[in-house]
Amino acid sequence: MPDEQQQVVGGRTFWRGHLHGHDVVAVLSGIGKVAAATTATALIERFGVQRIVFTGVAGGLAPGVRVGDVVVARHFLQHDMDASPIFPRHEVPGYGRSRFDADPTLTTQLVQASERVLHELPARLGAEVMQAFGLETPRCHQGLLISGDRFVSTTTESLGLRETLPDALAVEMEGAAFAQVCHDYGVPLAMVRTISDRADDAAHVDFPRFLREVASRYSGAVIETLLREK
Ligand code: ADE
Repeated sequence: MPDEQQQVVGGRTFWRGHLHGHDVVAVLSGIGKVAAATTATALIERFGVQRIVFTGVAGGLAPGVRVGDVVVARHFLQHDMDASPIFPRHEVPGYGRSRFDADPTLTTQLVQASERVLHELPARLGAEVMQAFGLETPRCHQGLLISGDRFVSTTTESLGLRETLPDALAVEMEGAAFAQVCHDYGVPLAMVRTISDRADDAAHVDFPRFLREVASRYSGAVIETLLREK
């Protein structure tokens, strides 16, 4: 952001400024549900944000969710939440529910921005990068995103998640925490994730390179497109 200024809160650097006429606060969430929850809380309590758009990466679970696709969350669930037998598996104690929703309006806007980026970005990434990661015609999926404090990197674990939660599109480590905090405060949330791996035995391969050369480009382009058009 041309006018950005840094502010450190709770050990995280928040960047405040303006982009395409919008007041923006940008921050790295940190990895895992606790870091995500404190970041979301600081955004709301300290910076008074009125909506949150989260971009990142995830491991694909559902059969058609491939590396280079994007998943836009409609719902979130913590796959490692288990207070059974006192509460049903996955239910968040005190809420009477296991699933939290993304904001429908902001999410539809994010889907539109993501689809536009998928249309335009592969050409800008170039053939070499597309081939290096085996990216073909990337697709945009919408549905359930599941979160837990584990990087899922074995085929056994990902098959287990698919069996327990057959409608889960992808797995990551922060989404459901943001969704719970946003639910608590009544702040609209939308989230898009680039699929960096298939959450299987090969999940760690080229992960840093994918972040650098593909996922960060998607995130930047989606945010630009969303802010430019809304
Ligand atoms: N983020 C990206 N890939 C992931 C995986 N396989 N498990 C958890 N979080 C991820």
